[in-house]
Amino acid sequence: MLFRLPLVRNLSTQVNAAAQKVSKTPSMKTFKIYRWSPDHPEEKPHMQSYTLDMDETGPMMLDALLKIKNEVDSTLTFRRSCREGICGSCAMNIDGRNTLACISKISKADGKDVKIYPLPHMYVVKDLVPDLTHFYKQYKSIKPYLLTSKPLPEKEILQSVEDRKKLDGLYECILCACCSTSCPSYWWNQQEYLGPAVLMQAYRWMIDSRDDATESRKQMLQNPMSLYRCHTIMNCAKTCPKGLNPGKAIAAIKRSMAFE
Ligand code: SF4
Ligand code: SF4
Ligand code: FES
Repeated sequence: MLFRLPLVRNLSTQVNAAAQKVSKTPSMKTFKIYRWSPDHPEEKPHMQSYTLDMDETGPMMLDALLKIKNEVDSTLTFRRSCREGICGSCAMNIDGRNTLACISKISKADGKDVKIYPLPHMYVVKDLVPDLTHFYKQYKSIKPYLLTSKPLPEKEILQSVEDRKKLDGLYECILCACCSTSCPSYWWNQQEYLGPAVLMQAYRWMIDSRDDATESRKQMLQNPMSLYRCHTIMNCAKTCPKGLNPGKAIAAIKRSMAFE
């Protein structure tokens, strides 16, 4: 026994050294990212590859993008702000799905490259930055604020607990545009069809008990394009990174237009 102890210790030292060696082996992952710059209009859009050591990269897709921008290529352009799924800035298409980079985990073990594009079917300002001017114009068009003809109280306009509950699943929308840019109807009719994000917000104000403008809000949608281009394909609900269901809200608007 006296002789065997050092042997065991030796063996365990060797095992630890081997384990350390294994954990120090870099686990590399390649990110293929869409690049286009208005400063070089003669260059076509292309994919650029960046390979990172996952042992030195944070867990989320946004961490990888920030690492590339800070340490590898400062020309890479993308939007981000809150880095916790609140502001909607980092919406982009990652591995075929519209989502928020800051709350998308990198799969370290799958051995696959990651492909990142800007939100689809939008004009591109640069790299991963889509032009959302028209999207915001459409949002403005639905008057996303309280409209009431009643005299305003000194403090707040009260609302029952039940009426407040009707806004759940709607008010949480962060206007990231993931849903609208995943909607085939929006892809093809974006100039006239309002798209799931904006329509869900239209519904949010229609059913707010403090708002008096339900009829005029409905009137605004009473045409063949603004609302009725939705064919209930439900890509919107599938992709929403906040787990909301714009398709259901659109169906509720259609029902209320038909029966109320
Ligand atoms: S409904 Fe979801 S996907 Fe659409 S804009 Fe709102 S948060 Fe984004
Ligand atoms: S349900 Fe309507 S809004 Fe949603 S993806 Fe389908 S067509 Fe677009
Ligand atoms: S950085 Fe704000 S939602 Fe991703």
